[in-house]
Amino acid sequence: MEVIIQADYDAVSRVAADLVEELVRKKPDCVLGLATGGTPVGLYQELIRRHQEEKLSFSKVTSFNLDEYYGLTPDHPQSYHYFMNEELFDHINIPKKNRHVPDGMAKNVEKWCKSYENKIKRAGGIDLQVLGIGGDGHIAFNEPGSSLVSRTRMKTLTEETIRDNKRFFNKNETVPIHAITMGVGTIMDAKHCIMIATGEKKAKIVAAALEGPVTSQVTASVLQMHPKTTVIIDEAAAKKLKNHKYYRWCYDRKPTG
Ligand code: GLP
Repeated sequence: MEVIIQADYDAVSRVAADLVEELVRKKPDCVLGLATGGTPVGLYQELIRRHQEEKLSFSKVTSFNLDEYYGLTPDHPQSYHYFMNEELFDHINIPKKNRHVPDGMAKNVEKWCKSYENKIKRAGGIDLQVLGIGGDGHIAFNEPGSSLVSRTRMKTLTEETIRDNKRFFNKNETVPIHAITMGVGTIMDAKHCIMIATGEKKAKIVAAALEGPVTSQVTASVLQMHPKTTVIIDEAAAKKLKNHKYYRWCYDRKPTG
């Protein structure tokens, strides 16, 4: 696991965008795993800028999103479908047929989840998976206690997650309590994972995920067992890391080639 500590949110977004750009230029028909939440918005803005100003093309890219609230239609303003259209898809050129976001209205959820897994497999697997981290340590919506080999399925959200995500909903709206999410095992199959986190609020959980035990109680901790994960965080989110000096030392002396 490589840990990259940057000064602030904008720098984190730029470094994450560099990794996405490097892959897209090297492998134009790559498969991207995409995330929602507040954290990746800066990364998406940077990708949009590079698309518009620097001819970064996504015309052959395929994408799979991590999760979607169960019970929200794609046109619901708080759905992850809507978020992805607003924050990324409407501004870059990933072909519509290549974009995949879990169906929050799926009737036969088990069957639908299996078909999502098959689609990922048929696309050749995820080359680069973007991840955030929830306040309770979740990746995607893999809440504490999720099997570390789980596949795409329905999950019940924790009270903490519901509370955290309330900020995106109007006062009179209720946050859905269920979601369809890629499993921890699905995420672990990605060839490269990048996890981004910023702000002091995330410092404690980032330390637990990176330097604590690997446990289903903090599903992000399983990334310690992933063969290629890059964690990009700002100073504030790095505050509680015991080895922060070493991570900086390594990054400054990164071997080239
Ligand atoms: C949601 C998403 C996660 C995301 C998390 C953190 O729960 N399902 O994929 O990582 O929010 O969100 P934020 O980046 O807003 O802190």
